[in-house]
Amino acid sequence: MTERKRKGIILAGGTGSRLFPATLSVSKQLLPVYDKPMVWYPLSTLMQAGIREILVISSPRDLPRFRDLLGDGSQWGLRLSYCVQKTPAGLAEALVLGESFLDGAPSALILGDNLFYGAGLRGILEEALEQESGATVFAARVRDPNRYGIVEFDENGRARSIVEKPEHPASSWAVTGLYFYDERAPSFAKELRPSARGELEITDLNCRYLEEGALSVIRFPRGIAWLDTGTVESLLEASEYIAAVQNREGLLVGSPDAIAYEEGWISRETLIRNAGRCGKTEYARLLRSLA
Ligand code: TTP
Repeated sequence: MTERKRKGIILAGGTGSRLFPATLSVSKQLLPVYDKPMVWYPLSTLMQAGIREILVISSPRDLPRFRDLLGDGSQWGLRLSYCVQKTPAGLAEALVLGESFLDGAPSALILGDNLFYGAGLRGILEEALEQESGATVFAARVRDPNRYGIVEFDENGRARSIVEKPEHPASSWAVTGLYFYDERAPSFAKELRPSARGELEITDLNCRYLEEGALSVIRFPRGIAWLDTGTVESLLEASEYIAAVQNREGLLVGSPDAIAYEEGWISRETLIRNAGRCGKTEYARLLRSLA
């Protein structure tokens, strides 16, 4: 194996204007989704892909709070680093900002407000991890395709185009906020020019890979949920969804503590210490029952 170990990036800046006034003075990704901070969910997704070295990017205002919440990651057997994004200049800027952190390694970028859940998720992540060159993105069926980057497929099921917020969508498959790139992504991202809305667009980066036939699009099967948390309604629905799953199954969703323990990255003592930080809550009780 010569491949460099894949590193993760969580992009957790932005303005969260659709959640005003809730996000007037605090980052959206620090708000709770049911019982835990939103950013724990994308962090858990990266961990499920076996990624342990992760960069968290956020605004100058909010980055210190992410640092407070997540620390150096050692409580979960991770190595976390932090980087400021001065202004919300677009999703693809994450690869530019992350260049020195990645240091030539392939990457997995996840948006700090994207929740993924489902029994088949781990298998799908493994499929993407096996791709050593090019990029892999994931598509989910949506009801309102003109709000997303939409994939058009050819007759063989390969991606033909991705169009950002199309007026006439070619399909109902939207590109979700989880992207796997080979080591070329930072240099490709640096070549991008801002779009009409002044942002470095992730769709343009994905199209760069698509043009050279190096983009795989994995369609989520039924049973994998991709939850949006960008509006008050969707945030509430996400909380209700997580509550329903956790209370029915008695298993934690989006818990870095549980994943780290199951992966063998932390000891039983560390798990119990982490549970201790969470007082007498149901979350702490479920961690103790794991231990
Ligand atoms: P959006 O939902 O497009 O933007 P936003 O979070 O600022 O919200 P709103 O539209 O309500 O103002 O962003 C998707 C995710 O990417 C979200 O987690 C914020 C993050 N983001 C950044 O961190 N930096 C950026 O430059 C952009 C555009 C988004």
